[in-house]
Amino acid sequence: MKLKKILVVFGTRPEAIKMCPLVKELKKNTKMKVTVCVTGQHKEMLDQVLHTFSVIPDYNLQIMKEGQDLYDITSRILVDIRGILQTENPDVVLVHGDTSTAFAAGLAAFYSQIPVGHVEAGLRTYNLYSPYPEEFNRQAIGLFAKWHFAPTDSAREKLVKEGKDPKQIYVTGNTGIDALQTTVRPDYRHPELEWAEGSRLLIITAHRRENVGQPMREMFRAIRRILDTFSDVKAIYPIHLNPTVRKIAQEELDNCASLRLIDPLPAEDFHNFLNKSYIILTDSGGIQEEAPALGKPVLVMRDDTERSEGVTAGTLKLTGTSEETIYNLCRNLLENSDEYYQMSHAKNPYGNGTASIQIVNILEQELEMRK
Ligand code: UD1
Ligand code: UDP
Repeated sequence: MKLKKILVVFGTRPEAIKMCPLVKELKKNTKMKVTVCVTGQHKEMLDQVLHTFSVIPDYNLQIMKEGQDLYDITSRILVDIRGILQTENPDVVLVHGDTSTAFAAGLAAFYSQIPVGHVEAGLRTYNLYSPYPEEFNRQAIGLFAKWHFAPTDSAREKLVKEGKDPKQIYVTGNTGIDALQTTVRPDYRHPELEWAEGSRLLIITAHRRENVGQPMREMFRAIRRILDTFSDVKAIYPIHLNPTVRKIAQEELDNCASLRLIDPLPAEDFHNFLNKSYIILTDSGGIQEEAPALGKPVLVMRDDTERSEGVTAGTLKLTGTSEETIYNLCRNLLENSDEYYQMSHAKNPYGNGTASIQIVNILEQELEMRK
């Protein structure tokens, strides 16, 4: 039987963390020929993940340049991936989520009339500027995708309401939870965690485009005030490699004895840091899914979230980006043990770690490989 050709495309850290478990699962299937193309939208942060999961790409477009803007990313991927689509002529192109890599690679596949499978489909805020440009990217991918792999029932409902064919939508859970199964270990140790031992540990991340500037300064000032208020609290912040984010973080958070500013951690380490933390403060998307699976409350430093299931379940709280509100909500969570208990014992709504296996089974069926 002729092998079905699956081209998997990703380019940033979060996509890689959520696509590597799927690549590994696809590669176990003897009826599929799996090709991995990374765009290199991220460089060091992407390489960290490829190394953690031992995935070696077949193609690397290496598009990243410092200070890249949305025109650079989208146009370079669209043009550079054309030849790969022509050479490989895949039966399906799989993209993930809402990055510019996912949008541009999906659009390129659509131009070549190759079916697109969208992993992590149906997340929405319905505010095109928050998160920006991700809300546009994922809605646009939804227009041309043939198969929508939704992580939750509520993501599925949104797609149905938008008029997608319900038969083409599959609820699988989030592949990010699959990744956690291979990274988190109870006996994990790290020198930074030893530094924080005996304290309540905050893990911090921030990188969203719409927060760069004043909102990010407010977030960091709130965190600094928390650390000044509570002597038993320490914080670790692995800073994203975006130079503007790093500059703001260094300006606002330097010289704070109870906070460590460190480089981005490999996923395996970062997941274990989450697992050892007390509270997470972040504007990240993926961390909003991982933390509940580890029983950790998340203060989401954004005005909107597409992970509304986590808010409903009680494991995420939206804080907005004002210093005063973040400070008050974090303080409350540190002082109020009932609230802490409730947030850390809410049910994880993002699946049971079998999303990748489910997607492979669905693709087998959809690509008519079970004759
Ligand atoms: C991108 C995604 C965002 C995702 C985030 C994950 C888009 C539009 N945005 O945003 O959805 O949440 O990735 O982190 O697709 N850099 C490096 N080395 C790296 C990675 C980044 O130096 O390994 C620096 C570069 O200077 C780059 C900057 O970070 O210009 C920003 O990277 P970029 O991919 O443009 O945007 P992100 O904010 O990372
Ligand atoms: N992450 C990591 N190292 C770090 C910080 C985050 O591996 O130092 C992981 C985190 O566990 C999650 C993903 O990166 O899986 C989230 O990526 P990011 O916040 O950059 O993007 P988003 O999810 O917001 O798109």
